Amino acid sequence: MTDQPRLTLNDGRAIPQIGLGVYKLPADEAVTVVGAALDLGYRHVDTAAFYGNEQGVGEAVRQSPQTIFVTTKLWNEDQGFDRALRAFDASFAALGLDWLDLYLIHWPVPAQDLYVETWKALIRLRDEGRVKSIGVSNFSQGHLERIIQETGVVPAVNQIELHPRFQQTDLRRFHQAQGIVTTSWSPLGQGAILDDPAIARIADKHGKTPAQIVIRWHLDSGLSVIPKSANPHRQAENLDVFGFALDQDDMAAIAGLDSPDGRIGPDPELL
Ligand code: A2P
Repeated sequence: MTDQPRLTLNDGRAIPQIGLGVYKLPADEAVTVVGAALDLGYRHVDTAAFYGNEQGVGEAVRQSPQTIFVTTKLWNEDQGFDRALRAFDASFAALGLDWLDLYLIHWPVPAQDLYVETWKALIRLRDEGRVKSIGVSNFSQGHLERIIQETGVVPAVNQIELHPRFQQTDLRRFHQAQGIVTTSWSPLGQGAILDDPAIARIADKHGKTPAQIVIRWHLDSGLSVIPKSANPHRQAENLDVFGFALDQDDMAAIAGLDSPDGRIGPDPELL
């Protein structure tokens, strides 16, 4: 799988549209699990300082002969200008690579009101060439408007909870207007969406699995998507999503699954 689709970022770089998520992947399994995924054809890995597995991810990436797009994220307690610079150094050292493709602020944490200063630190890192692209995660439209207004720099990416039960249509519209790529975290709704009868019907129709239908929905919706699986069979299944497309009826049926109560993770305003 060498010709995976890529999305163009607002800084001119490109991100492979499918990546491997590694949340909750134990550090001692990261080298093997990520290595297996890279062997299968994944070209993008999404980790975070908080996950505690950057070292294993970096080792697997170093062992791969392929060019791999690597994302990591700055943890909440490391927000603030100086702390963010130090946190970047720690993540960069843990990964042990000589590049980082994308560095994200993991959560805005409005209660500590440090995300603007933190964003300024990420801009510095990008301007110094230490990270290729910068973005945010779990930012609302209001948080995005504030950092854009105060710095003039639009994030390349906002990575948010997004799956058929929580489709974030308003925020996606704002991203599109601003040229921000949306990355979907928990794209499979942490597995819960896979039992939905509407998804099962579409899966039967195309001769695909429910996970493949949901990942195809993210791709056809123009989203970057990072399904997590520690299992090589499911990793392969989640990458085997090319050569078919959802039709208008499928897209309409999935649009009908959206719910205002569909959020699984924390509310970014309250964290
Ligand atoms: P596992 O790691 O054992 O494969 P999300 O990315 O939405 O957070 O979902 C991740 C969850 O979904 C994990 O529990 C993962 O379990 C499971 N999962 C990932 N891919 C598949 C798949 N193709 N079929 C069923 N479950 C999956």
